[in-house]
Amino acid sequence: MDAKANGTRWWHGATLYQIYVRSWRDTNADGYGDLPGVIAGLDYLQWLGVDGIWLSPTMPSPDQDWGYDVSDYVAVHPELGTLADLDKLIAEAGQRGIKIVLDLVPNHTSNAHAWFTDARSGRDSVHRGYYVWADPVKGEGEAGAPPNNWRDATGGSAWTLDDASGQYYLHNFLPAMPDLNWWDPRVHEEFREIIRFWLDRGVAGFRIDVAHGLYKDAQFRDNPPLIGGGRLDGGFGLRPVYSSHQPETHAVYRDWRKIADGYTPQRLLLGETWMGDLGKMASYYGQNDELDLAFNFPFVFSEFSADALAGVVGQTLAALPAGASPVWMASNHDISRFPTRWAGGDERKARLALLVLATLPGTTTFYYGDEIAMTDVAVPRELRRDRMTPGVGTEGRDAERTPMQWNASASAGFTAEGVTPWLPFGDNATRNVAAQREDPGSTLCLLRDLLALRRREFAGQVVPYERLPAPPGVWSYRSGPLLITANFTGDPVPLPDRRDEVLLTTAPDAAPGAALSPWQGLITRTGGA
Ligand code: GLC
Ligand code: CA
Repeated sequence: MDAKANGTRWWHGATLYQIYVRSWRDTNADGYGDLPGVIAGLDYLQWLGVDGIWLSPTMPSPDQDWGYDVSDYVAVHPELGTLADLDKLIAEAGQRGIKIVLDLVPNHTSNAHAWFTDARSGRDSVHRGYYVWADPVKGEGEAGAPPNNWRDATGGSAWTLDDASGQYYLHNFLPAMPDLNWWDPRVHEEFREIIRFWLDRGVAGFRIDVAHGLYKDAQFRDNPPLIGGGRLDGGFGLRPVYSSHQPETHAVYRDWRKIADGYTPQRLLLGETWMGDLGKMASYYGQNDELDLAFNFPFVFSEFSADALAGVVGQTLAALPAGASPVWMASNHDISRFPTRWAGGDERKARLALLVLATLPGTTTFYYGDEIAMTDVAVPRELRRDRMTPGVGTEGRDAERTPMQWNASASAGFTAEGVTPWLPFGDNATRNVAAQREDPGSTLCLLRDLLALRRREFAGQVVPYERLPAPPGVWSYRSGPLLITANFTGDPVPLPDRRDEVLLTTAPDAAPGAALSPWQGLITRTGGA
């Protein structure tokens, strides 16, 4: 309310940095990154120039899905630290002008959560209604068949029979992650309290897991077949129109937004809106009264070309309500890192992607390691730790979750000498923070320069964006006072005769003047010609 009046939203024009806590820095030599490790890295993030940190789940969890199976929403996972560590992190980050955003998982809990233990104890238990139960469909076998065709994230049935009560419970992810029943008003009240608990401690907002998934069809109708469509539209041959994406979910965010708006400075609600339709994604902003930001997966999965990326950006901005901020990212803990996915290991392409991410309007998000163009790591099957992806036929999500490459030593600067990290290191000898920090021409220093420029020109605003005419394969756009020319081709491209002030380029060694070299990006100030 008050914060709205003065109009400032800290994420406008800002840079977020996602830390997968287990993989960032280990301070007690158990092979897992931890919260004291995040504190130890704050000076580095201040140097890099980030405004906020999104921490992957920090709450107690049996780690069937590495923290996304929460067993207690108002505590800290003992393996990662203590509540006192988190308080200290909020305070120390605050001293450096950095905000802390937590990951909140409202779609499901762990089966070890006390609510589920009670719910499972019998049909009349107090918490039975917190979860989604259904009777078997009689006829097939003794126990009866699952209530419908919904599938979980592994491809198996989304329903598991609870022998004791003879009913099935729903899990859209793993059987150990039962879905909450948002038709029960008590679940709403629980989450209001959880949100206030963390916001009162100074947390700057939440990244909301599976934000589009909370409500399920009350009649449990079968999901229709997926015809056409890609990874963002469904899976295992089905379009999840009844197992998620219900319109009632919007009211949850209107409710949470009122809570968040009651805090000063204003708190951020950032949703994981996994969907291919930008109009639907935009609907989660409501009329600027639901989520503040909704992650843009069509951008992530766009082809790495000028037209494809510019197309998604244009459509996104057209779809959002007036005054809303878009949010961009290209890597996270669920998807292949962009230096691999977009750039195929080509440093020039990774640098170009960083330049684009740093100069788009609104909020931008980097995943730890993006700043050194860390690539996916082929984790041998016997060392993989992700239980969700073995059946999915990909490399699995461990590839993008390997430890941060701090230096060239045998421990990568991640853990103590001789400790086996929870996932193997990538090639930290050739790619690490320490070496790149010393080299002004490195990718790390490029991003640092880009973020300094971003802060100087964009802080506190969602700057206007306009695509400009350009030769084929070149994306040229105006973002506020900046003019960006990005060559998405493997050929040199002639530049119009311009005498604008050059602020930054991804290829400082390229011959200055009349041409952009292959995969080079250039930032000038508009109006200088
Ligand atoms: C989200 C998370 C992912 C997790 C899933 C279930 O997609 O980003 O890591 O496995 O939700 O919580
Ligand atoms: Ca540790």
